[in-house]
Amino acid sequence: MNIVVSNVKGGVGKTTTTVYLAAAAVARGWEPVTLIDADRQASSAEWLEESPVEGVDLVEAPSERTVARAMANHDGLVVVDTPPGDERIVRATLDRADAIVIPTRAGGVEYSRVVATLDLIDKGTPLGVVICAARLGTNDLEEAIQWWTDSKVPIWGIIPERVGIAAGPEARLYREGLDAYDGVLRKALRKRPG
Ligand SMILES: Nc1ncnc2c1ncn2[C@@H]1O[C@H](COP(=O)(O)OP(=O)(O)OP(=O)(O)O)[C@@H](O)[C@H]1O
Ligand SMILES: [Mg+2]
Repeated sequence: MNIVVSNVKGGVGKTTTTVYLAAAAVARGWEPVTLIDADRQASSAEWLEESPVEGVDLVEAPSERTVARAMANHDGLVVVDTPPGDERIVRATLDRADAIVIPTRAGGVEYSRVVATLDLIDKGTPLGVVICAARLGTNDLEEAIQWWTDSKVPIWGIIPERVGIAAGPEARLYREGLDAYDGVLRKALRKRPG
């Protein structure tokens, strides 16, 4: 099962989402769990080197060829972090996805970037957006929820903005984040092939 985390926009929460989804999969009993880092910036690789998550194996594959091979050759649950831009690598991952998680933020300018990401995805591949660093109770968030609902793009999760999540590898994974991402994982797994 390959879950790809992607958005052509930078800085929306792809790496954070990838690491938390992998940790949530371990907590759910998946074995093996592999995090493939397809981003040359190697942010999730650095995260796991600084702060390993027990049960998560890391594979760095920042090219079309290496990521295609890595995604084909791993059993269990695979979560793939992708770069912003670098459309060829992104396409190589999206083409092999069983489910696609699209991190985004609340706020009007974000929609067009998600639509640009949706344009790269084959029809029929299950996908959902995750609203990251959400400020609960704000109009921005309510409008984003309404917009995705009207657009018939499923919302697989709303992750609140938390200092403990923003700390990244400098702190342990944040309990509330793990719980919220477990909900995202369950939605993605409902789309499991076979
Ligand atoms: N729920 C959250 N609460 C607070 N901060 C968050 C949350 N999720 C992500 N962030 C912060 O947002 C920033 C961008 O997140 P992240 O690096 O995961 O995005 P990205 O899409 O992988 O970026 P890039 O495109 O550069 O790879 C980071 O500083 C991260 O800590
Ligand atoms: Mg990243």
